[in-house]
Amino acid sequence: ALAVANEDTLVVEAGSSRFVRACLRQPVDRTPVWFLRQAGRYMPEYMAVRKHHSLLDICRTPEIASEVTITAAERLGVDAAIIFADLLLPFTPMGLDFEFVAGEGPQVNTPVRSLEHVQALRTDRADELGYVAKSIEKVAKHFAGPRADGDTLGIIGFCGAPFTLASYMIEGGSSRNYIETKKLMYSDSVAWPMLMEKLVTVLVAFAKQQVEGGADVIQIFDSWAGALSVTDFREYCLPWTKELVERVKAFGVPVIYFGVDTASLLGTMRETGADVIGLDWRVPLEVGWKSVGEGCGVQGNLDPITLFAPQDVLERRVREVLDAAGGRPGHIFNLGHGIVPGTPVENVIRVVELVKEYKQR
Ligand code: CP3
Repeated sequence: ALAVANEDTLVVEAGSSRFVRACLRQPVDRTPVWFLRQAGRYMPEYMAVRKHHSLLDICRTPEIASEVTITAAERLGVDAAIIFADLLLPFTPMGLDFEFVAGEGPQVNTPVRSLEHVQALRTDRADELGYVAKSIEKVAKHFAGPRADGDTLGIIGFCGAPFTLASYMIEGGSSRNYIETKKLMYSDSVAWPMLMEKLVTVLVAFAKQQVEGGADVIQIFDSWAGALSVTDFREYCLPWTKELVERVKAFGVPVIYFGVDTASLLGTMRETGADVIGLDWRVPLEVGWKSVGEGCGVQGNLDPITLFAPQDVLERRVREVLDAAGGRPGHIFNLGHGIVPGTPVENVIRVVELVKEYKQR
């Protein structure tokens, strides 16, 4: 639904969704809303599917992944559907084996700790990720055309950012202090840039497939960029993330760049050229928006644990986020990070209703 006017400007064509319009800071009839991890383990429908299939089987089977994506979006009544997939999927075609261990999260069998290992990573097999684009095609087909309210649902493709993916490759899983990652980053001025470049190559190809499959927007998750100082972010992360954002935007879609614990990084994150920066809940939305500056949208930023609060608190916090955005074009309502397991589904639905009912005072 988009046309590239020049390198920098995307032009919205008729029929675009309010979600895509908001990504491009165009006026909308109301603030669009969706949730990070909206199709996860908190949802009984997902758990019913999960009982019979592993996480990776779901990701790699377009019939199931699309179904999970569609079910969550319809159940919640949100304005956008994020494709059911995972950050770590590109590791397989790069030649890195990993698995999801129940209760432990992802585990890479042989973590990347040397130049030789970085050299051995492959960048020529991204086409093996085509199953994600196939899932997107199915979701796009299902949601083609306007819904009851006249608006078209937005379809979000995604990938990890080079730093966050490198951290999983090097640590071998989730981490608290990123010691191995930072050791390699600080000490090996050949291996680190090579790893980041290889990731960019694969991620650009992966994002391209997703756009061709029908993704309206690409979200780039740099979930753990907040582990970096501003100086280190600028030196070891920004150049490659910027390249990734630029190359994905060139496919004709807006890009959302998201990280957690990023209050001090927001101005620098903006330098990637992303259309929208995802804010975590620790920064007040108006402060975060000031940091990213004019000319950029923001997404967020309700604390996901607010979804466990009593109704009056939940309502107040949702209103505060919307008040802070002040009705300026370019706000997409979301959480500051993903929905956690155990979250009451009815509270997630309530938030969607609150955003839809909201009137600027
Ligand atoms: O609607 C959705 O958001 C679901 C699609 C989705 C998944 N992973 C499926 C998944 C998305 C958008 C992701 C992104 C992702 N994957 C991130 C970035 C998001 C963020 O929170 O910042 C990260 C860091 C990963 C890597 C990953 N995948 C981890 C660390 C884990 C284990 C932690 C956990 O929550 O258990 C996963 C597993 C995973 N990916 C699950 C889901 C629904 C839960 C496990 C399961 O169903 O077995």
